[in-house]
Amino acid sequence: MSNYHIKHLEEYYQVYRKSIREPESFWEEIAEEHFLWRKKWDKVLDWDFSKPEVKWFEGAKLNITENCIDRHLATRGDKTAIIFEPNNPDDEAEHISYRQLYERVNQFANVLKSKGVKKGDRVCIYVPMIPELAIATLACARIGAIHSVVFAGFSSKALSTRINDCDCKMVITADGSYRGAKTIDLKGIVDEALESCSGVENVLVAKRINSGISMKEGRDFWLQPLLDSASKEGNAEVMDAEDPLFILYTSGSTGKPKGMVHSSAGYMVYTAYTFKNVFQYKENDVYWCTADVGWITGHSYIIYGPLANGATTVMFEGVPSYPDFGRFWEIVEKYKVNQFYTAPTAIRALAKQGTKLVEKYDLSSLKVLGSVGEPINEEAWHWYNDNIGKKKSPIVDTWWQTETGGIMITPIPYVTPTKPTYATLPFIGIQPALMGENGNELKGNQVDGRLCIKFPWPSMARTIWGNHQRYKETYFSAFDNMYFTGDGAFRDEVGYYRITGRVDDVIIVSGHNLGTAPIEDAINEHPAVAESAIVGFPHDIKGSALYGYVTLKDAGESRNHENLSKEINQLIADRIGPIAKLDKIQFTEGLPKTRSGKIMRRILRKIAHNEMDNLGDISTLLNPEVVQSIIDNKL
Ligand code: WTA
Repeated sequence: MSNYHIKHLEEYYQVYRKSIREPESFWEEIAEEHFLWRKKWDKVLDWDFSKPEVKWFEGAKLNITENCIDRHLATRGDKTAIIFEPNNPDDEAEHISYRQLYERVNQFANVLKSKGVKKGDRVCIYVPMIPELAIATLACARIGAIHSVVFAGFSSKALSTRINDCDCKMVITADGSYRGAKTIDLKGIVDEALESCSGVENVLVAKRINSGISMKEGRDFWLQPLLDSASKEGNAEVMDAEDPLFILYTSGSTGKPKGMVHSSAGYMVYTAYTFKNVFQYKENDVYWCTADVGWITGHSYIIYGPLANGATTVMFEGVPSYPDFGRFWEIVEKYKVNQFYTAPTAIRALAKQGTKLVEKYDLSSLKVLGSVGEPINEEAWHWYNDNIGKKKSPIVDTWWQTETGGIMITPIPYVTPTKPTYATLPFIGIQPALMGENGNELKGNQVDGRLCIKFPWPSMARTIWGNHQRYKETYFSAFDNMYFTGDGAFRDEVGYYRITGRVDDVIIVSGHNLGTAPIEDAINEHPAVAESAIVGFPHDIKGSALYGYVTLKDAGESRNHENLSKEINQLIADRIGPIAKLDKIQFTEGLPKTRSGKIMRRILRKIAHNEMDNLGDISTLLNPEVVQSIIDNKL
């Protein structure tokens, strides 16, 4: 019997040890007992990080959609697979059962085939958070087409770069999308992008906002009539274990995005296994991840991981602030959500609103709270724990990346004791290493280093689309025989990991390494502070000094900025040491953010370096307007 569901700490340690000592037999048992295969593998694992080459379950044949849909029909046909909650709470929600999902995915797959899409073709999916997004994704997987989902908030330039990079022959989109009180003309953006994408033969358009858009004769088709006349039955394409399932772009150190390529079998096994354990999902639980399917979190933990476990997964079209900041909590109450997974940036934005709107709703269904995407600062952690979880729902601070496919370092709720700001322990099968400046592994506890992974895990990305050399250089060249994450981490006295932030955010001040995340944590503890970001700037004596951008909760804060600066520096001195005090503190109206809510430190760094004429493309930011105001008020 495999250990598919871990229930206590001793079991975690025991299973973890087994997964490290005998990784092949461990993963073989998990794969064998919990998934549907058309043919079993010849070999569990083949790997060489120097090439780098990694293959899991080589020789096996499968289709991930048979695992996510077909195999549930006998026992869960009427169970809700996807709950769609629309942007506007007055509009009707949709409950899609596993049987309906089966039919709708087949119809969509048949439409794709009728338009000439074949196994191995790339299809770009640029669709808002409506059911068609999940269905299109699964339909591609069903026929073996490689999906490339592009977050439907990216600009036409960003979209065309991604379409061309992997030569998509089809784009799936919608006439438009709702985001809070706004509507966005998605089809217009696609049309503009396609002016520079000659390889796209067809565009399928879902109707969402009923706007009068233009359709290009012969190229563009309304989706619904095609679906209506397509068969609800269809066979899944038989895929090799290592056939690419999808491409997902992530930004890198250069301007060109990296198309991370994920496999079919390894990705399925690992996302399903992590989902079951990290969220302690039990039959009939309702699980909600607030991410967009356009990011890896949505791929792995809205679609594939939950559906592979026969779960009920919520897809929310809207934003946390519409029609008011109680929207998330209203949804939790409405569906009696048991597991809630969101990002620290959302938690901070909601915390800023106080607790009035939280108290309005019944959150007693919650059992597990998740956090992902960036280090969660201590203040946000406590706010989440006290006000949302009422101190009874463990917070799983899950560290992972687009490149890793699934959650890598995380507590298991009700199993691993949590500790604020710590992602705690490696998940089963994950072998982290902390590396020193000189390429040596830092053994033992209470050490700070570059976070690497020593051994392959099933869901790791296999390459960068069209550029294996860049894959090798970015992830396998910094340290011999290791996957380098680009993050720094601290391992405490009991072996818990705390992610200290991107290594490129480490600033060396007077020869001391200072992580920006702990300094920001200290600043954010100040009751007047909403959010902050630290970057380095050149300093004659120290080499680098620290520049802090600080957003106050109340922009009209009556205390003067000089006093606030002193208090903030005192807090930093108290929490970290005088060495970490900021040389400059600029109070800002907001911080530039990516569409996924990450603070764009690169831009802040350039401003601090006085490189204002070299900011690069800021058009993909969530809030490009704050950049000018930061420049105008620069110290
Ligand atoms: C950061 C998101 C601290 C980290 C799944 C990583 C985190 C990058 C955490 C990947 C966390 C993600 N604590 N930092 N719990 N989760 N990160 O590719 O720097 O969008 O390398 O994947 O986000 O971001 P990505």
